[in-house]
Amino acid sequence: MDTEIVKLRQGDEDGLLRRAAELIKQGRLVVFPTETVYGLGADATNAEAAQRIYTAKGRPSDNPLIIHISSPKDAEEYAYTSDVYYNLAKRFMPGPLTVILRAKDTVPYTTRGGLPTVAVRCPENKIANRLIELAGVPIAAPSANLSGSPSPTTAAHVIDDMTGRVDMIIDGGECEFGLESTIVKIEDDGSLILLRPGRITVDDLMCAGFVIRIADAVMSELRPGETALSPGMKYRHYAPSAPVVLINGEIKKIISYIQAENIKDIALIWFDDDEELIRRELSHATFYNFGKRSDKLYQAHTLFSLLREADKGEHDVIYAPLPEKTGIGLALYNRLIRASAHKIIEL
Ligand code: TXA
Ligand code: MG
Repeated sequence: MDTEIVKLRQGDEDGLLRRAAELIKQGRLVVFPTETVYGLGADATNAEAAQRIYTAKGRPSDNPLIIHISSPKDAEEYAYTSDVYYNLAKRFMPGPLTVILRAKDTVPYTTRGGLPTVAVRCPENKIANRLIELAGVPIAAPSANLSGSPSPTTAAHVIDDMTGRVDMIIDGGECEFGLESTIVKIEDDGSLILLRPGRITVDDLMCAGFVIRIADAVMSELRPGETALSPGMKYRHYAPSAPVVLINGEIKKIISYIQAENIKDIALIWFDDDEELIRRELSHATFYNFGKRSDKLYQAHTLFSLLREADKGEHDVIYAPLPEKTGIGLALYNRLIRASAHKIIEL
């Protein structure tokens, strides 16, 4: 398939987005930027179009898609909403929040991976929001990476993964946040379960008055036989081909540990604060700058880019820090334990 790659120019947005919206209406695949990561979009109400998404990504068909709407009230046509949904919408939409609701028949089973529920998100990114509005249908969109590789946060990442697999790629620059949306499920009693941590943190939700608990799979491995609340949790994710190992402890101890390991080609995704020391003591390692230790937003913005870059370096091992589980740190923690398949070294 030919893939048209288009850069959005000031002033030409609407003409171009109208063309992209036409493709969506025809059941074609369009990659577009959002405030979290790039999405691989198709008409969510068209089962054949949704099936094309699974094929393009190489994604198992039991892993459901998020449907993207341009205004929170548009959920009515596709899901059973509630006061809690509208309270979430008032506070956090449009924005990087996905809510799991009971689905209506208007959403084909292909789109929702055979589940009775559907994931709904109203993105804030202007290009994404306008594209959905012009298409006039909700757009089903997983992250626009090949299944198993890190989500794309730049058009270059998308071009690497999706050229020849989609009809159009809209280049809208770097995604602002860089990790996928926070996902919550609304329980029958109105409380929330966090299925995937993101930009909207547990603290943000608690401060806004919501009762929330964190699903076990956010922080740990599923036990054998255990079923995931969110099908995506059971797949290895975000993983470069070299083994990723998370390492926690004082920097001097970490340096001694890595020296003693005596591995030939090492990559180290680490904080700016320790760069000088690392370059001096581990001169044979390739250093990938993860920003200031305290700057979680920068780390979120750059993590997937660094994983892709480190992967291209074909190292024997990639070391990265074990993030704290607070605030945005929880989203970093959740992505990194998956990238490392839970390999953690405590020093
Ligand atoms: O930020 C984002 O959410 C991006 C952008 C493009 O919007 N999209 C994204 O989609 O990350 P995807 O498909 O890569 O991740 C969606 C996750 C998957 O883990 C999937 O299993 C879960 O949401 N999910 C979708 N529908 C669900 C449902 N009905 N119940 C539970 N989990 C669901
Ligand atoms: Mg994904």
